[in-house]
Amino acid sequence: MQSVETPIAPEKMPRHVAIIMDGNGRWAKERGLPRSMGHRQGVLALRPVIEQSIRWGVPYLTLFAFSTENWARPKEEVGALMGLIEEFFYREVEELRSQGVRIRILGELSALPERPRRLVERAVELTEPNRRLTLSLALNYGGRAELARAARLLAQEAVEGKLRAEDIDEAALAKRLYTAELPDVDLLIRTAGELRISNFLLFQSAYAEFVALPCRWPDFDEQQYAQALRQYGARQRRFGGLEARERQ
Ligand code: FPP
Repeated sequence: MQSVETPIAPEKMPRHVAIIMDGNGRWAKERGLPRSMGHRQGVLALRPVIEQSIRWGVPYLTLFAFSTENWARPKEEVGALMGLIEEFFYREVEELRSQGVRIRILGELSALPERPRRLVERAVELTEPNRRLTLSLALNYGGRAELARAARLLAQEAVEGKLRAEDIDEAALAKRLYTAELPDVDLLIRTAGELRISNFLLFQSAYAEFVALPCRWPDFDEQQYAQALRQYGARQRRFGGLEARERQ
């Protein structure tokens, strides 16, 4: 692995980085390869970003691996992605465990085929005690579906008399999301140049800084990650308020 200097001061480092890993298909097409090869190469790009997050002290990393909309892709491509998910969890879980990584899943796992589902569940279980890096993988995830699910859970609790309508506030909703224990997203990175949020972490990214990089996901490496962090470090975060100098 390349050694890249810590790109920004530790106190400016985002706590939660989320990534929309886009451009696998284009990466493959540009090389005359099938799309599945782009996804395979995309999986290889996961290790550097995980290791640099640990090294640079980013405690929460969330990756968009498979959306609720991705089921609509050709059967062979969905099959290839499921196979890669299975392979990743089979091959990487021990290494991740020994590095102190806790794996969490955002999304409805029950819809996955049995083999990948079991391996994912095992990885979550095995890495549960770890806290060095929380790696959340969004699998069969959609932001709107997540919000609808949270509303359903709240309604159910209200019907059962465990909750009053007036107790439903932002914090109550946040607690029913898949990300209940995670901090809000600070930095949202999207590769392959698109400027869309694509139904990813809609509630959690309310004040995230968005960085779009032109590189395809399989080309995302330590240098690209450092560049995104430097862009983040140069931003003034306001959370809807004013900067200090504007307040005078
Ligand atoms: C977008 O590229 C990427 C995806 C739909 C899947 C991302 C998945 C991986 C990187 C690998 C699987 C993850 C794990 C955890 C094993 P695209 O196909 O939409 O690219 P395009 O826009 O260029 O066609």
